[in-house]
Order: sequence, then C-alpha cells, then structure tokens
Amino acid sequence: MRILVFGGTGYIGSHTCVELAARGHELVVADNLSNSSPRVLDRLQAIIGAPVAFHNVDLRDRDATRALLAGGGFDAVLHFAALKAVGESCERPLDYFDNNITGTLNLLQAMREGGVSRLVFSSSATVYGDPDRVPVTEDAPLRVTNPYGRTKLVMEQLIADLCAADPGFRAGVLRYFNPVGAHGSGLIGEDPGGVPNNLMPYICQVAVGRRPALSIYGGDWPTVDGTGVRDYIHVLDLARAHADALDTLERTGAGFTVNLGTGTGVSVLQLVQAFERASGRPVPYEIVGRRAGDVAEVYADPSLAEALLGWRAELDVDAMCRDAWRWQSMNPSGYADAG
Ligand code: NAD
Ligand code: WQD
Repeated sequence: MRILVFGGTGYIGSHTCVELAARGHELVVADNLSNSSPRVLDRLQAIIGAPVAFHNVDLRDRDATRALLAGGGFDAVLHFAALKAVGESCERPLDYFDNNITGTLNLLQAMREGGVSRLVFSSSATVYGDPDRVPVTEDAPLRVTNPYGRTKLVMEQLIADLCAADPGFRAGVLRYFNPVGAHGSGLIGEDPGGVPNNLMPYICQVAVGRRPALSIYGGDWPTVDGTGVRDYIHVLDLARAHADALDTLERTGAGFTVNLGTGTGVSVLQLVQAFERASGRPVPYEIVGRRAGDVAEVYADPSLAEALLGWRAELDVDAMCRDAWRWQSMNPSGYADAG
C-alpha cells in the first residue's frame, strides 16, 4: 500500500514508519515539525535503507493538505499529527482545538476529495478519564478531564459520524495507553522539548544526568505501593499494531476502535526499579504531592485488539526500559546530538 503518515517525524509515527517499510509499504511522511526534528528523516533512512519522502505541511493549512492528498495516490492515511501536552492544553485550549480538531477536519475533507477512504487514527486512553473499573474495556464511559482529552474525544466522534454517513470510509481508532521505549538501533526515540511531562522521558533524563531527581507525584494512592499505576506499552508493539490495523481494514472492510496496552498495570516505583536494573544507573527520586488531574490506576483490557487485529503486546517492562535507555544514552540531548 501507499501510505501517508501525517505526524510521521514524531515519536510514535517515526517508529511506525520503520514497521510499515519492513512490511513492504510505500511511505510518504508529512509533518509541520512543530514537535519533531527533521533529523528523524536521516535516522529513518539509516534504519530503513532508503530515503523517506517528506512534505512539510501543516494540517491547519487546508489548501496545502488538500493539495497533498489530491495527487498523492494514497491507499490510506495514518494520522498521528496532534498537540499532546495535557498541562499546555489547559493553558491554551483554543490552540489545541484549532490544531487537533480543525486539523483533523481538514484532513478528513482532503481525504474525501482525494478519494482516500482508509484512516488509522491515534486516540488515547485519556478518553476514559478516571475509569470506574480496571482493566478498562472499550465500552467504558467516555469522560474527559482536560482540553487535550476533549480534542481526542471530539475527533473520535467526528470520525465515527463520517463512517456512519459514508459506508465507503473506514477508520481504525487506536486508543494508546502509555507508550514508552525506542527502536533497538538507538537511532530514533522520544525527544520531548523542555521539561518532560511524561514519566519515562523524565526518568531517562535523570539517569543520563540532565536532571537531578525524579519527583514522584503522590505516594498515597490506593495502589500496590502508593504510587500511580499505568499500562506502559513498548512503542515497537504499538508500531506493529498500526500495520495490523491497516491489514484489518483491508481484510474486513470494517472499522473498529480498540485499546492498545499490555493489560498489566505497573507502578511508578516499579518502573523506576526496572529502569535502574536495565540501565545500571541510579534514579534518585523524591515523593511529592499529587499532580492535578492524575488518577490512581489505569490499565487496558487489550482483548478486543487481539480478537479483531490478531495483535497483542509482546515486549515487557524490562525491554521498554532497556530500549529507552539505549536511545537516551546514545543521544543524551536527543536529536540535538545528531550531526
Ligand atoms: P509527537 O509530538 O512526537 O508526534 C506528533 C507529530 O505531529 C509531531 O511530529 C508534530 O510536529 C506533528 N504535528 C502536530 N501538529 C501538527 C500539524 N498541525 N500539522 C502537521 N504536523 C503536526 O507525539 P507522539 O507521542 O508521537 O503522539 C502521536 C499521536 O499519538 C498524537 O496524536 C498523540 O495525541 C497520540 N497519543 C500519544 C500518546 C503518548 O503518550 N505519546 C498517548 C496517547 C495518544
Ligand atoms: C504516568 C505516571 C504520574 C511524571 C499522559 C496523558 C495521557 C497520555 C499519556 C496522550 C503517573 C507519574 C509522571 C513525573 C511522576 N498522553 N509521574 N512524575 O498521566 O498516565 O498519561 O500521557 O494521550 O493522555 O495524560 O502519563 O507519563 O505523565 O504519568 O510521578 O515526573 O507517572 O503521576 O502516575 P499519564 P505520565
């Protein structure tokens, strides 16, 4: 298939490019580089062994998005392009609505005009908010707690309405839990700008000496050891799920919404300990107050993804930590280290 990967220089998109190329798909990456480096393209070329076609396009630019889709001859679009920082979304909700929701509308319109009828969409466990019970199944109530989450929920609803209106249009909606880890080459990985919001990149930056200590947000949660529990999933398992999602859309002709997680909850302290084992580096931490909006425990029931896509996560927390550390130690300052 010829596939347009929007947001393809980002963390999850870049890893998915490697998987798609390995399965023989033809790739075109589009991104406005608002949260990624063009150096990703050289790294992808080194891994894949061939250059990756790239277009610097902002989804908010309707005409540019339309032009890209019009003559592209694409069989499917993978849509990773979004702003994703929860805290920032509370400060600048309109920017999030514009970038994520307007951007997605532009993409859907451009796909329709360009005759592209298959979409794989990056959604998030954030659509479950604070779930009533774990493991979370896809039919759990959807309730969001911040503007970023709202954009994911609205985008899911827009896509569902479009699928209902146009039986020829098919979408695979993938609700990621907590993506971590990196490609085994150490050439691509997660490179957040500024202070990391998420746990694993923060741990990596402490271990490599960029930050003195991790602040653990709360030691009094009703969990196994008092720290928050999440479902960390290796980005390589996620990448594989995207390729499986495309195959499933092709094979069954039916859309779907599935959780992508391992099904296993891991606490902050358990992740810190696994990381120390994998890296051989100490990760000093202090337990501080809870972070606003956090919840005690969220992990997936991933059985629907297995039933529909034939996919299940294969890589464990030790592999996640080992690969995150390889990336961080080979690139202490992220892509800024790349020549
Ligand atoms: P990322 O920021 O690394 O990648 C997103 C890419 O989209 C970036 O390269 C960015 O430059 C690009 N982009 C953003 N707005 C754009 C626009 N208007 N036009 C063109 N390109 C644009 O993030 P990621 O972690 O790879 O996440 C990919 C997707 O998965 C996002 O939709 C995110 O919301 C979703 N998601 C991420 C996580 C996570 O924890 N990483 C969890 C659940 C869902
Ligand atoms: C994980 C655990 C923290 C940082 C977020 C988004 C969600 C999704 C994934 C996009 C929690 C604790 C963290 C730190 C800590 N993104 N923590 N110290 O909050 O589960 O989900 O990213 O869709 O929408 O909300 O992930 O990595 O921020 O936190 O103690 O410096 O680590 O309290 O228990 P979260 P996270």
